[in-house]
Amino acid sequence: MLVAIDGPAGAGKSTVARLLARRLGYTYLDSGAMYRCVALLSLAAPTRAPGPLARAARIELADAPGRSATRVLLDGRDVSEEIRAPEVSEAASRVAADPDVREALVAKQRELIADGDWVAEGRDIGTVVAPGAELKVFLTADATERARRRAAELGADADTVLAEQTLRDQRDRDRAHSPLSPAPGAEMLDTTGLDVQAVVERIAALARRLQRL
Ligand code: DC
Repeated sequence: MLVAIDGPAGAGKSTVARLLARRLGYTYLDSGAMYRCVALLSLAAPTRAPGPLARAARIELADAPGRSATRVLLDGRDVSEEIRAPEVSEAASRVAADPDVREALVAKQRELIADGDWVAEGRDIGTVVAPGAELKVFLTADATERARRRAAELGADADTVLAEQTLRDQRDRDRAHSPLSPAPGAEMLDTTGLDVQAVVERIAALARRLQRL
């Protein structure tokens, strides 16, 4: 079984997907971490095309219980913290617009989720990576609330985060290749004012109903 969770930054996807995976006993896939890895490589080698960098990258994701974030290894090096830096977020949204990068990472993601039960989270899981996912969820939240959540997480100023988020949202939605949009048949879930556990419960209930069918 595959649960696909897509939506814009700050809608609560990562937290919800990780908790949901644990609740259901599934494995969690943070696809954004892969784009962040390619961004890191691209920042270190700005003259090289990001597509070949993405294809050659050895990205390992380990979601360890008790950890608040997935442990990310890039070519054997732990980059879990580094990939969360604001300049990497910015670069990730740029490399994510490159069709060559997307093709390479979608292939890696499909390979991963081919076996077992997964909660996969990103922008294009339900639309491109796994249109056949048994359950597709599109999480949204009010832009100000999303920025407030991200700012609290990063210890940053909410207005600055909102300005950067608006730019990245725009780029994610307007890119020609796999723009951020709900998959046909996706359950739309607005998390504004909802607590994380309530969101997890709601999706877990949908997943259990499907498991019984
Ligand atoms: O979810 P995140 O903030 O870690 O994602 C980082 C960037 O990667 C973000 O700009 C959107 C992009 N991304 C994407 O285009 N497709 C995905 N499946 C996951 C992330």
